[in-house]
Amino acid sequence: MTTKNTLSITDNRTGKAYELPITDGTIRALDLRNIKVDEEDFGLMTYDPAFMNTASCRSAITFIDGDKGILRYRGYDIAELAEKSTHLEVSYLLMNGELPTKEALAKFENEVTHHTFLHENVKDFIDGFRYDAHPMGMLVATVGALSTFYPEAKDIRNRDNRRLQIVRLIAKMPTIAAWSYRHEVGLPYVYPDNDLGYTANFLSMMKRMAESKYQANPVLARALDVLFILHADHEQNCSTSAMRGVGSSEVDPYSAVAAAAAALYGPLHGGANEAVLRMLNEIGSLDKVPDFIARVKSGEGSRLMGFGHRVYKNYDPRAKVIKKLAYDVFEVTGKNPLIDIAVELERIALEDEYFVKRKLYPNVDFYSGLIYQAMGFPVDMFPVLFAIPRVAGWLAQWEEMLADKEQKISRPRQIYTGHDVRPYVTIDKRG
Ligand code: SDX
Repeated sequence: MTTKNTLSITDNRTGKAYELPITDGTIRALDLRNIKVDEEDFGLMTYDPAFMNTASCRSAITFIDGDKGILRYRGYDIAELAEKSTHLEVSYLLMNGELPTKEALAKFENEVTHHTFLHENVKDFIDGFRYDAHPMGMLVATVGALSTFYPEAKDIRNRDNRRLQIVRLIAKMPTIAAWSYRHEVGLPYVYPDNDLGYTANFLSMMKRMAESKYQANPVLARALDVLFILHADHEQNCSTSAMRGVGSSEVDPYSAVAAAAAALYGPLHGGANEAVLRMLNEIGSLDKVPDFIARVKSGEGSRLMGFGHRVYKNYDPRAKVIKKLAYDVFEVTGKNPLIDIAVELERIALEDEYFVKRKLYPNVDFYSGLIYQAMGFPVDMFPVLFAIPRVAGWLAQWEEMLADKEQKISRPRQIYTGHDVRPYVTIDKRG
């Protein structure tokens, strides 16, 4: 029998038959519009709350196989990139589709190094926040504010201009993050040090005190670089969808990144790493783990934060790398005792029917916070540490969206469930 890549549909309301082409495992939602009961009919739409089964775009950047626990950036496996690459090299790869030559990487690193400074007015802007403002709230606002410092960024159809803004954003995220932290703890801002690499410079701006030069521990600087590689992109997650959606209005990239960072801030997304640490601290000791798990399963307690994923129905490959990395970091920092509680939670959850049936495994956020805490970052900095590297992925996806001839302003439809037309009632006649 010859198989055809089509879907045959019979509309039982009219008896009419339709044949829709199947491409790349999908049918075009717009093809359903032709299925009508009469000429007045608008035609069929798909209804897919939270986009559980909708491909929003075609993308060549990141590939995930959720069942097999596979993650690749531009075809390169995440574990190999974590072992052999650097965050800036991966940022270049995401943006350009190929690993850079030695010269191209040196040029990109030099460009990023020379765009790490912020306009002095940004210090006044950050100083305007409350003394105890959450650094992620400061980062979201400050990135958005940068759009007012670079009005030329609105020219998003000019490639050279786009690339300049992309370099600025990748370069300035660590500075904004570090200055938000320094504001929160009441310490003076530390300027970027062009002699240092990307993560060592970030650690210097975070931690330097009276010393003239900050010496980052090379193991910790490398560990942070690996964590940045692991967090750089993850196809059409909530914050990337925000980046693409907001970017589709042709707004400047600073405003679109602010929207993406706001989406990442949520505890179900990039805020989960902070929520995991608060959860582990709440559990407090190994003997309390069974009770906590029971409360999660009963639905009374919180979710098991750091577990579960919309796409991965297997172990998140990033969590595997992070769990191993944690012990390398603990060699330098001393063991974070909370890891014993995390390992016990994982052991029980991976054996428990509730979690097994729902295919809930540790995700990228389950172990990362333990490393951040061991490295001396406060818990509220954890989502910020997610946003810094993810800006490379957001920007690569943004550029791909702009270049995609099929894309236009994002504007979904709805199923209207409200009142039918009704006359206005004057206030004296309202019940
Ligand atoms: C990230 O999308 C990405 O790629 C995101 C990310 C990236 O790199 O960009 O990977 C980063 O955001 C990782 C996820 C971090 N979030 C958390 O760890 C928060 C805890 N996890 C969940 O809230 C949840 O698993 C989500 C949000 C991650 C996924 O939610 P889904 O796919 O919408 O799943 P669901 O809420 O429909 O849950 C299905 C079932 C439900 O039970 P039933 O209603 O069927 O009885 O599983 C249960 C849920 O209650 N469930 C959990 C759970 N996650 C889902 N139960 C307990 N603990 C959990 N963590």
